Amino acid sequence: MGSDPRRRIGVLISGRGSNLQALIDAVADGRLDAQIAVVISNKAGAAGLERARAAGIEALVLDHRQFASRDDFDRALAEALRVRHVTLVCLAGFMRLVGPPLLEAFPSAILNVHPSLLPAFPGVDAQRQALEHGAALAGATVHLVTGELDGGPIVLQSAVPVLDDDTPETLSARILVEEHRLYPEAVRIILDGRWRVDGRRFRRLADRMSNE
Ligand code: GRF
Repeated sequence: MGSDPRRRIGVLISGRGSNLQALIDAVADGRLDAQIAVVISNKAGAAGLERARAAGIEALVLDHRQFASRDDFDRALAEALRVRHVTLVCLAGFMRLVGPPLLEAFPSAILNVHPSLLPAFPGVDAQRQALEHGAALAGATVHLVTGELDGGPIVLQSAVPVLDDDTPETLSARILVEEHRLYPEAVRIILDGRWRVDGRRFRRLADRMSNE
């Protein structure tokens, strides 16, 4: 499992790392045929770094504040990923905007998980936004990352109900269950390669076998 050089993932985090854990667990139990080559956090205290180390994965800190510009930080990230032969970058609670140097280094090869039914409620505090708007449904989205914040092609999405007595915390917890389910599945779809992007839209291609 995971020895294919085309299936090397780099995970970028800023905090807790529960989505990182979902990826680690999926690799460990064979649901995801991939290798997590490195975990990089822009915050030294991120709990996700410990999750990586506990799983025997290299864990690095690249503090964005140590770089003169956003582009410099992005170039350093791209280089750290490149030298580890990463082919797919997974943002998992990474609280920095991804700029051109990283996007250009990994074209159509950066994924993000977001706690809303995009394109509703991009940006921070998506769960609170859903509650404030009285949305009946909330959910989780895994999408390809483009220059548009939370605006890239949607790979997978799952809805959950919003309950009358929900708080941002209870709604976040319900959505998080879906994030953890979707993210490894979306990574698998991307690594399997039977897809294309058509304008804004992500399209899965039919198995060649089923066309014959
Ligand atoms: C998740 O809700 C994710 O969708 C959002 O930030 C949170 C990160 O949680 N982008 P974790 O660090 O994966 O536990």
